[in-house]
Amino acid sequence: MDARAIRQAYLDLLREHQHVVIERAPLVLRDDPTTLFTGSGMQPLLPFLLGAEHPAGARLADVQPCLRAQDMDEVGDNRHTTFFEMLGNWSLGDYSKAEQIPMVWHFLVDVVGLDPERIFVTAFIGDAEHGIPRDEESADIWERLFREKGISHERVDLDTEEHGNEVGNQGARIAFYGHKNWWSRFGGPNDMPVGDPGGPDSEIFYFFPQVEHDTAFGRYPHQNSDGGQFMEIGNSVFMTFRRTDDGFADLPKHNVDFGGGLERIAASSIDSPDVYRVSTLWPMVERLQKVTGRTYEDATTAMRVVVDHLRGSVFLAADGVKPSNSKQGYVMRRLLRRAMRFGLDLELTAGVAADLVPVVASMYGDDYPEIAAKEAEIVAIIAKEEKLFARTLRKGLSMVRRLGRTQPAITGANLFELHDTFGMPIELSVEEAHRHGIALEDTWQADFDALMDAQKARSRAAG
Ligand code: ALA
Repeated sequence: MDARAIRQAYLDLLREHQHVVIERAPLVLRDDPTTLFTGSGMQPLLPFLLGAEHPAGARLADVQPCLRAQDMDEVGDNRHTTFFEMLGNWSLGDYSKAEQIPMVWHFLVDVVGLDPERIFVTAFIGDAEHGIPRDEESADIWERLFREKGISHERVDLDTEEHGNEVGNQGARIAFYGHKNWWSRFGGPNDMPVGDPGGPDSEIFYFFPQVEHDTAFGRYPHQNSDGGQFMEIGNSVFMTFRRTDDGFADLPKHNVDFGGGLERIAASSIDSPDVYRVSTLWPMVERLQKVTGRTYEDATTAMRVVVDHLRGSVFLAADGVKPSNSKQGYVMRRLLRRAMRFGLDLELTAGVAADLVPVVASMYGDDYPEIAAKEAEIVAIIAKEEKLFARTLRKGLSMVRRLGRTQPAITGANLFELHDTFGMPIELSVEEAHRHGIALEDTWQADFDALMDAQKARSRAAG
């Protein structure tokens, strides 16, 4: 199934299960100052997960475009994208594990057609510090589902990713972890601000036997290893707790918050460990191959970065964000500038906007009419940024290389000057230094930060 068909089939199935399909939220939430972007489907539903009545009822579903800017540096591998679509369903105090887990299993195995032998899962090991019990119930449900298909269903306690890396999952279908199996917007139980909801979760992974486990990420593979064989495709959070000053309290309703990565499920469905092969990414790669004359195989990283960052920027522009020097606009500027910077590697001189925005519009125009309607406006926003940046980049990158020739190492002060005087984003200067094997002084980051702070203090005093 391609991504579009999976998106549709998911919503159809959820409707059959008496869910109301709600409108997606924009990538920038107006009433949530805690995060810059919508990074998961639950975010717009926060008040309802905390107990307010949702006008559409207690069983909700949607497909939510998400942006996780914090993953920007990981883009380039075969599975991370900053922008992705999350298939979501919620029970607001209605059903629980006994309905959620079989429903998502049915979707993945019977509807999408994934090989059940290649599905592996996790459950929460328990947290003595906060008095939260081990999630045997989820494990029992998974065990039954695997058993019904005649599939092995051993359990293993791995607790931490590090321990898993040491011992591997030993082929166990159901692995128990600690903080890895706790979900909140801010991470583990101790990272949550008071008032925020969270809870134990049960994640679903697809196994790719054709990938060799990369031992740089640990001796043995296991569900939560980054070694490349296991890809997380979905997560059911049993959102039952609210952080308090001294621990956790029960939420007024026990909720389910499911998120499935559309691109990753689509990649699993075509048996590709590389998400860029799916129907909502690959046409952009094809276009790049055509205009550059390069192949994906020999320019993989650059093409992935250009494709991911451009697709995200198109959605940001459609949702009203423009490149600027603060907040969301700054992230968009970084995305676009990284795309353009990697575009240089591909000798993409004609400009990424003119080439790729229409491809994004044709992939998404039917399901997200706002993209089709604003295509010309989006091209103009991106082309303007492209022009501005072309000048900066040419000057800045050549200055980094010149510093590399004339100094033993680049300093924080050099990077500050590049940033302050020429508008070079620091990460691009650092990346360029790495790419050319140019040394950076050990204290560059601290020195750069100190100069930035001093500058901020000066402008505050002046203002
Ligand atoms: N909110 C959950 C996640 O993002 C489903 O994984």
